[in-house]
Amino acid sequence: MSPSDPSIDFQASPNPLIRPEPRVLPPEYPGAARYAEEEVDAVVRVVRNRSPFRYYGPRLGGEVARLEDEFACFLASSPGGTWPANSPFRVTAVNSGTGALEVALDALGVGAGDEVLVQGFLWISSISAIVRQRAIPVLVDSDATLNLDPDEIRRRIGPKTRVIMPVPMLGGCARIGRLAETVRTVNAERARQGLPPVRILEDCAQSMGAHAYGIPGSVEPTAPEGIHRVGTFGDVGIFSLQINKNITAGEGGLIVTRDPDLARRIDALHNAGYARGKAPPVNWYGDEPVGWGHGRRLGEMQGAVARVQLRRLDEILAAMRRGHDSIERHLRSLGLKTRARADADDPGDTGYYCQFHLPDRGEDDAGRILRGRRIADALREFGLRPWFLHDFEVHVYYNIEPLVGRWPLAGGGPWPSGDASGDPRYAYARGTLPKLDRLLTSTIGIHVPSTLSGTEEAYIRQALSWVISTETDR
Ligand SMILES: Cc1ncc(COP(=O)(O)O)c(C=O)c1O
Repeated sequence: MSPSDPSIDFQASPNPLIRPEPRVLPPEYPGAARYAEEEVDAVVRVVRNRSPFRYYGPRLGGEVARLEDEFACFLASSPGGTWPANSPFRVTAVNSGTGALEVALDALGVGAGDEVLVQGFLWISSISAIVRQRAIPVLVDSDATLNLDPDEIRRRIGPKTRVIMPVPMLGGCARIGRLAETVRTVNAERARQGLPPVRILEDCAQSMGAHAYGIPGSVEPTAPEGIHRVGTFGDVGIFSLQINKNITAGEGGLIVTRDPDLARRIDALHNAGYARGKAPPVNWYGDEPVGWGHGRRLGEMQGAVARVQLRRLDEILAAMRRGHDSIERHLRSLGLKTRARADADDPGDTGYYCQFHLPDRGEDDAGRILRGRRIADALREFGLRPWFLHDFEVHVYYNIEPLVGRWPLAGGGPWPSGDASGDPRYAYARGTLPKLDRLLTSTIGIHVPSTLSGTEEAYIRQALSWVISTETDR
């Protein structure tokens, strides 16, 4: 048998001395991969009713309104369990995750000169939404989960801090229970100083369905200690329905809160700025002005598709976790450390992406970058779609050119000019977050598609074994 013989039995334990023949693996769009007749029926239903707008039409189907109620029930369910009939949550559907962030920040009252604490491993929208509100992003370093480190908050918080935004990345939870506890302590101190409370906005665009342990609530506990879905620990949580997320309607977003006043503001601001308090409302867009609307309504076709997809979410999560756990076990058997989970006893990560750390060989920064790129290139040859996280485009704060250069909005701001412009907390170049910087130059991620066959999964293990052993021999 030649070293690259395609007849290799991948089901057997991977042999690091055998180079597998490169294959094409399925792309990982878990929701879209499962589109079937139900999604077709959902779209056809709306088209047949000739009512694609959520608030009126000849035969209104109420798809978006039902999506909101169903997602609220999903968030109140325990992982894998049945959905309760009632939910303490209020959900507003919008037309993107970016829009969800902008509406949520506006509803939380974030404006010019306010500060929002955010991690440095994120997606550019988590930053642009802050800047669009004319607020200033203040970066917080990360822990081994690659998410916002709750123990770093106190070093960054200031009198102008209004919101803390954890961004559970790639389906991996932050230590959100610890974060909520820290914010409650901080808020008790702020109340004594006469300062407004800091609110928590969870950007869960990449982690719908993940769960974590702790006590939710930024000022007072809002639910008992236990397991809760991410997005329900803070004051507001947002999700995305874009194709690269766990379920998809192509585009779309969801905003959740437990607070009825916030829910009213979110509902008004996502539309024309008017609250729909009266039943039935006199005006379709609402009756009481609350603020300036964002025009972020979701359409009925996307609402109908998202409802079908939501029913598939538990099955998708189970498939993602199965493949992810198996590949992670394999990586650890090769002597590699995998990304830390927030809760080792009950990891609620979604399994969207697998990340492993390259062992420290005492190289300097440039040496680590060279090695990370070399290994990512080698994995790419085998179709594993790797990312060396240092090069992970605008998921990394220092790769976001408009942030590093503090590009102003039209008319100036949000960053101050003059003396205040030198505030070290308003720095964004590489080096601002040393712990994260180090993690990014020693971490590689690979997609583990949720639709893998056993043979494909075994092929991934074989390719990893080959690349890692070849690298170790260098
Ligand atoms: C962490 C995070 N936040 C926000 C967004 C924005 O979502 P959307 O693409 O639906 O606007 C994304 C999407 O990629 C994301 O990954």
